[in-house]
Amino acid sequence: MTRLRAEGATASQGRLRAEGATTSQARLRAEAAPARQAAVVLEGVRKSFNGHKVLDGVSFDVPPGRAFCLMGRSGTGKSVALRHIIGLVRPDAGRVLVEGRDITGLEPRDLSEVRKRMGFLFQNAALFDSMTVGDNVAFPMRRHTKWSDDEIRSRASQKLADVGLERDFDKMPADLSGGMKKRAGLARAMALDPAILLVDEPSAGLDPLTSAEIDQLLVDRKKGGTTLVVVTHNIPSARVVGDELAMLDEGRIVARGTVDELDRSDNPLVQAFMRSEGGG
Ligand SMILES: Nc1ncnc2c1ncn2[C@@H]1O[C@H](COP(=O)(O)OP(=O)(O)OP(=O)(O)O)[C@@H](O)[C@H]1O
Ligand SMILES: [Mg+2]
Repeated sequence: MTRLRAEGATASQGRLRAEGATTSQARLRAEAAPARQAAVVLEGVRKSFNGHKVLDGVSFDVPPGRAFCLMGRSGTGKSVALRHIIGLVRPDAGRVLVEGRDITGLEPRDLSEVRKRMGFLFQNAALFDSMTVGDNVAFPMRRHTKWSDDEIRSRASQKLADVGLERDFDKMPADLSGGMKKRAGLARAMALDPAILLVDEPSAGLDPLTSAEIDQLLVDRKKGGTTLVVVTHNIPSARVVGDELAMLDEGRIVARGTVDELDRSDNPLVQAFMRSEGGG
């Protein structure tokens, strides 16, 4: 375990330096970075489905308590990359480290331990259709804690209130709008106040005001110390939430940096994204 940690830290720092060899900024960042272990690391992850290459050596690392936004065109593998972090997808090559632990070859039981540290909002919200909205949010609490029914109900209600669904506890998912489902999914992802929150398109289907509220919620989480990995097409959101942004294209990260750095990028794809104002 200790050895893995050390390897993870060294590898990610070494890579940062290598990537940043051409820019003094990146080098400075790597040198100035405290020796804290990254919360999430993807190292040279490759993944193909039925001979179709999706990820072709994707590497990034997210320090604890920071927000990393992954952007890119539809179908480039953003959701696939995110699913690697919870071990729903396993890489053909490369490694995935969560809080220093290589999860690539973990047995289901150990993986489940690691997953307890994470909350995941699926792109389609993936609520359990046969449960009320409140029970959906309560589900991880019932599964992973010994809290009483009253406490679970009260905590689940609070989580729903956090996403503006305080009146919807007893509704069925089918009776929610698309944006409400997304928010309910987010409440469920946050049910156990995870150390790492992975969210796939949190703003999709939301009006700009609700979207801004969700952004604020994510920023508040981050201030509370949560590490965020956010897949988003919504550039205004990425600007607000992301400490670091990365662009995935044709299976690789083609640009990575702060908002300011990406605003100055000369990559046409990055420029097109950064200049867009639309949500989605
Ligand atoms: N389980 C799977 N089996 C086969 N192909 C898959 C699987 N999961 C993803 N893919 C393929 O991987 C590619 C990337 O999919 P992914 O869902 O990651 O895209 P995305 O970048 O999230 O797109 P979007 O912005 O539309 O959500 C697609 O071609 C998709 O069909
Ligand atoms: Mg996706």
